[in-house]
Amino acid sequence: MLDNITLDNNMLLELFKDTYHRDAQLSAYAPGRVNLIGDHTDYNDGFVLPAAINFGTHVIAAKRNDRIINVVAVDLDNESVSFDLDDNRFDDKATWSNYIRGVLVELVKFGADIQGADLLISGNVPQGAGLSSSASFEVAILKSFTGLYQLCVTGVDAAKMGQAAENNFVGCQCGIMDQLISALGKKSHAMLLDCRALSYQYAHIPSDMAIMIVNSNVKRTLVDSEYNTRRKQCEQVADFFGKAALRDIEMTQLKAAKPKIDETLYKRARHVVTENERTLQALTALNEHNMPVLSRLMAESHLSLKEDFEVTTPELDILVGILSDIIGQQGGARMTGGGFGGCVVALMPTLLVEKASEAVLAQYPTQTGIKPTIYLCTAEQGAFTE
Ligand code: GLA
Repeated sequence: MLDNITLDNNMLLELFKDTYHRDAQLSAYAPGRVNLIGDHTDYNDGFVLPAAINFGTHVIAAKRNDRIINVVAVDLDNESVSFDLDDNRFDDKATWSNYIRGVLVELVKFGADIQGADLLISGNVPQGAGLSSSASFEVAILKSFTGLYQLCVTGVDAAKMGQAAENNFVGCQCGIMDQLISALGKKSHAMLLDCRALSYQYAHIPSDMAIMIVNSNVKRTLVDSEYNTRRKQCEQVADFFGKAALRDIEMTQLKAAKPKIDETLYKRARHVVTENERTLQALTALNEHNMPVLSRLMAESHLSLKEDFEVTTPELDILVGILSDIIGQQGGARMTGGGFGGCVVALMPTLLVEKASEAVLAQYPTQTGIKPTIYLCTAEQGAFTE
């Protein structure tokens, strides 16, 4: 089992000094996230219930007096890029740098008065696992510039800029969940986020419950294109009803219109409409510590993502099956994030962690030929949480 590998801030400060031959001025950090329930609802103006986790991205930084941005990525063998703030083109080679470029474009659009910076980056969010390594990267960059240049940026501002960087610069039409929870998560809490109003409320995760994330270690394929297709399909159904988003549609309306809607589109919309309902119910269940209800809602969510939204993989289904057998009604398990590979999340009594880990480690490789990775997580503070 892999627990969080603690990144040593002092070590990164030393590395910064070795690299740039001067002291850093600040360390910024932003967490990745896991979503407990409410997937593919954010870009439909709906509800999500994620938590920020104890994996994240560090940015060590110092201001410059010119317009140059220097970046060293410690985890990529110290690969470095340099660019001018005013000549911020998409980088086809060091594609990771586009998250920084995109965020800075948005920060300038936002009206921030910034100059260059020397940056050193290091993170431990598993890449491509659906745990929002990119949102944590974007928010950590925004946090570092906010500190360096004493900017007036709120968590919601940062989330909007991070999402805009993905939408306008990187080319992923993601919603706002990942950036918002990375910016505004709260220790020991999940966050119910209304993705239309951008309002949120926190729900305490009982201290005797553990968050286990299991990486199916299936390479995610076609993620961006399939994701963007799903998004378009949802918009088509909202258009059919003359509504701004699927958030505005009730199940009764959708059912009544069934004969007039293409079967695939109907299923996509049914997932979103029912997932929004489940997410709100899950908030109540979590607040009331009603695990049998949460268990059922998480199971229904997974099934809906499998059959209606068609974004799970056989491996994710197998993992959810193994975990659900152990957890029963004492917690829940489902795929988490965008799907097409990646991770499942399980909420379970701490007492069941060992048994669940053993079951996953024994059964998953036998059934799939793949070794899983288990991360035991805690809910953490966001980068902009006061
Ligand atoms: C990805 C996106 C999010 C959200 C999830 C699915 O993580 O970045 O905005 O749409 O997929 O819930």
